[in-house]
Amino acid sequence: MSYLTDKLRADAAAARGDAEITHVPGQMLDDVLSKMPMKRRSMLRGSIGASLTAIFGASALSACGGGGDDTPSASTPAATENFAVGFQKVDAAVGQKVSVPANYTSDVLFSAGDALITAGLSYQGTALSLSELEQVGGGQHDGMEFYAIPGRDPNKNGLLAINHESTDGFMLNLADRTAPDAIKARLSNVGVDIVEIKLNETSNKWEVVVGSKYNKRYTGNTNYKTSGPAATVVGDVVGTINNCASGSTPWGTYLTCEESTDNYIDPTQNENGYGWVIEIDPLGELAALATPVKHTAMGRFDHENTAYMLNANNRMAFYMGDDSTPGGIYKFVPDGSYNPSNRAANATLLTQGKLYAAQFKPDGTGVWLELTQGKNGLVLGATDPGRTDRTTDTPTIVDFGTQADVVLQCKAASRVAGATQMDRPEWITVGADKKVYCALTNNGSRTVTDAANPRSTNPHGHIMQWTEDGNDATATTFKWEIFLLAGSQKLGAANLKGNINGDEFSSPDGLRIDPQGRLWVQTDASTSSGTTSVFGNNAMYHVDQTTKRSTRFLVGPDGCEITGLAYTPDLKTFFINIQHPGAGWPVAGETFGRSSTIVVRHNEGKPVGA
Ligand code: FEO
Ligand code: CA
Ligand code: CA
Repeated sequence: MSYLTDKLRADAAAARGDAEITHVPGQMLDDVLSKMPMKRRSMLRGSIGASLTAIFGASALSACGGGGDDTPSASTPAATENFAVGFQKVDAAVGQKVSVPANYTSDVLFSAGDALITAGLSYQGTALSLSELEQVGGGQHDGMEFYAIPGRDPNKNGLLAINHESTDGFMLNLADRTAPDAIKARLSNVGVDIVEIKLNETSNKWEVVVGSKYNKRYTGNTNYKTSGPAATVVGDVVGTINNCASGSTPWGTYLTCEESTDNYIDPTQNENGYGWVIEIDPLGELAALATPVKHTAMGRFDHENTAYMLNANNRMAFYMGDDSTPGGIYKFVPDGSYNPSNRAANATLLTQGKLYAAQFKPDGTGVWLELTQGKNGLVLGATDPGRTDRTTDTPTIVDFGTQADVVLQCKAASRVAGATQMDRPEWITVGADKKVYCALTNNGSRTVTDAANPRSTNPHGHIMQWTEDGNDATATTFKWEIFLLAGSQKLGAANLKGNINGDEFSSPDGLRIDPQGRLWVQTDASTSSGTTSVFGNNAMYHVDQTTKRSTRFLVGPDGCEITGLAYTPDLKTFFINIQHPGAGWPVAGETFGRSSTIVVRHNEGKPVGA
C-alpha cells in the first residue's frame, strides 16, 4: 500500500471504529528516527524465435511479464543475447527527474488522465464529466503486466494491463461536484486499464494506441461477478478498489489485487465485496470472464500481488501476501490442472482449490496451514489471538461455520490456524529455480519479534526466501531463510543498519524475477527528508541472488514510489510505474504530479540490464 492510500484508508477505517487498519503511527522511518538519537515453460515467454509459432497461434496468450516464474526457453534466439547485468550503477539522488544508467533512456508512456478510449479526450486542466473520466487513464499506477496480441510481434506491440491503487486528485475536480458525483469521480480513477501500446519505428518511441479495440477500463464503478465458496454470500459487486499489485496466470489472464477489505470511497457498498483477487482477460476472448470475476476461494484480505509456480504435471500454486500490520503469507492451490492446449478450459481454475497460510518455524522449516473449515481450529467459536507482533491485543471469538466464513474472515482464519504474522508482506516472486521471494516492507510497531521477523520496530523491512519441499508447488512444507535485512550502515541503531551488500535501500515493495532469472527490487520508503537524506528517492535495484550484491538501476522523482514492472519478451523494453510523484513531474511547472508508466531501454538496443 502506498503511504498515501494507507493513511487515507486508515482514516476512513478509524472513523468507523474498524480495527483492521494497516498504517500505524511509528510506521515510517521518520517517525522512528524522531524518537531515537526474486521453468516457465510457455514457448511465448522469454523471447521471440521458436516462440513465434506460439505467438502467431490462436492460443498464444501467456503473459510475457508473468508472475515471476518465467524461465527462458533454451531453444529461443534470445538465449544468444547477453543478459548479464553490467549496467553502471545510478547514485542515490533527489530531484524532479528519473535517473537511469549511462547509455539508457527513460520516456513517459502513459500518465493519469491521458487519452485511452477516445482520441483527443484527455485531462487538460478542464473538468471532465463522469463518463469522460471513465475513458482516460486512472491514477496512482501500480502493478502491471505485458500481454502479447495474437499475430503481432510482441517485442513491438502488445497490451499493458495497469493497476491503479488510488486516485490522482488533480484530475477529478472534486470541489466542483456534488457529493455523490465526487464519489463516482474518485471511483473512476481506480481499477485497471487495458492499454494497447506500440513501438513507433519512426520515432523509436513506444506509444499508446488510443482507441484500440483492446483498450478498456475496469473501475470502481464497473460490475464484477464472484466465484467460489463465498459467491452466494457476496453476490455480484459494484466496483473494485485499491488495485495494488498484480499477477498473471499461465493461460494469459490478468489478476488485479484489491488491497482493501472495504470500499472506503463508497462505504455504502457491502464491505464483503472487496479484498479479493479479480481475474480479467486482457484480450476479451474468454466467455467465462466476459465480466471480470472476483475469486473468493483465494481469500479476502489486503491483497498485494500474486505469483505462480507451475509443476511439471501442470498443478500450480499462487502465492499472495496480505499487506497488513502484521499480515500473513498465503498460497492457493487450484484443484484442477492447467491445460496448455485449451485456454478456455482454464477460465474457471481459480474458482475451486485449497487455501493455505504460512507458518515460519525458528529452525528454518515451514508449514502451509490449510485454511479449510473444520481444520486447524477453523470451527464455530474459534479463538482469534489478534496481533501477536505486540502484547496489547486480547483474543476474540470468531465463528467459522462454512468455507464462506473462512474466506471472508481470512485474516482471522490465518491467525487462528497459527500462521506467522509478518512485517507487511508486499510482492512475492518465483524464480526459475523455484525459489520464492517475498518483500516484507516494514513494521514500525513490532515489539515482539520472531525468527522470520527478527527486528523490533522494523522501519526498513527485509526480504524472505523459501523453497517448497521437493520443489513442488503443492507441497505443504518448505525451507526458508531471510535473504537480506534492509537499512543503512549510516544509521546508528543496530536495528536500522541491515546487511545489504552494495547499494542500500529501505522498505522493499515491488519484487520481480525476470525470465532471465534476474531479481529486481523496487522501494516504497517514506519520501520525507529524514529518509531521502540517507537513501535518496525511491528507486529500483538489481540484487544478485547468489552474491546478494545490490546495484541501483533507477531513481524516481521526488515524492514517488517505484512500483510495477513489465517487459517485452526480448527484455529490451522495461515498463515501470512512477506512483504519486511530487509537483512538476513529469510536466515541469505543473503544480501537481501525474502518476505514470515509463519506458526504459538501452540506447544500443541491448537487453535491459546490460
Ligand atoms: Fe499497494 Fe502494499 O502496496
Ligand atoms: Ca508499500
Ligand atoms: Ca506495494
